[in-house]
Amino acid sequence: MRLATTLALTSALAGSTTAHYVMGRLILDGKWTNTWEYVREVSPKENTSAGLALVSPNIDPTSPDIRCGRNATLGWSKPKVAIVKAGDTIGFGAGEPKLEGTDAPRLYHPGFGSAWLSKYEGEGSLDEYDGSGEWVKILQIVNRTEQSVDFDLPENKPYYDKLKAIWGTFRVDSWNFTIPATTPPDVYFSSYDYALDPTKIFVPPEPQVWTG
Ligand SMILES: *[C@@H]1O[C@H](CO)[C@@H](O)[C@H](O)[C@H]1NC(C)=O
Ligand SMILES: *[C@@H]1O[C@H](CO)[C@@H](O)[C@H](O)[C@H]1NC(C)=O
Ligand SMILES: *[C@@H]1O[C@H](CO)[C@@H](O)[C@H](O)[C@H]1NC(C)=O
Ligand SMILES: *[C@@H]1O[C@H](CO)[C@@H](O)[C@H](O)[C@H]1NC(C)=O
Repeated sequence: MRLATTLALTSALAGSTTAHYVMGRLILDGKWTNTWEYVREVSPKENTSAGLALVSPNIDPTSPDIRCGRNATLGWSKPKVAIVKAGDTIGFGAGEPKLEGTDAPRLYHPGFGSAWLSKYEGEGSLDEYDGSGEWVKILQIVNRTEQSVDFDLPENKPYYDKLKAIWGTFRVDSWNFTIPATTPPDVYFSSYDYALDPTKIFVPPEPQVWTG
């Protein structure tokens, strides 16, 4: 393995943190991996109906669950570790758990998305990392981009919502992004976050480095 040019990445996610979807699938080499294959599995919310338990939002910004999802502070599900080169494109996709009564897992709340990397300083397996180190933001999705859903297409037209569609992630099922080419080779932990209302709920992991 050429350690100098690779970085390992496991992934957390926190699509689960504040909304009714979990970004449980890593998109690697242009292919969707299985739910929880590379992403730490989250636990159902206690005393909650089956259709809501896994996708129930975390609404406590002070909980460690905000980093990787409910009960995913440690990688007890032992997800695989992806070897990704700096400069490569990866993505996160909504995993199978979906809100009761919806047709498919996708992001539908208004709000911004972001992706983060955190370097694991320990010696053991990435599963032992609780995400308490420094996090660097490598992606922020606010306005619409070329990845946003095209509401001019007949299949999407009925879902157009003037207020929500200004957000780039409205109704997408995934998002792809590039690991910055300048990322030093090391072992990293990656997380995808989603906020319902940035002014009220989202508290980014700290300390933070805003990369734009
Ligand atoms: C991300 O990439 C995957 C794999 O190529 C693709 O299926 C998916 O539609 C892409 N997501 C977006 C929002 O473009
Ligand atoms: C957290 O995950 C562990 C490992 O699967 C499980 O034994 C435990 O019951 C879970 N706790 C909650 C609150 O879901
Ligand atoms: C879930 O319900 C049980 C039985 O009513 C109760 O003892 C427990 O405290 C509840 N857990 C939570 C997190 O509300
Ligand atoms: C996003 O869109 C708003 C409204 O059109 C605009 O004011 C703002 O400059 C845009 N932000 C970026 C980063 O392009």
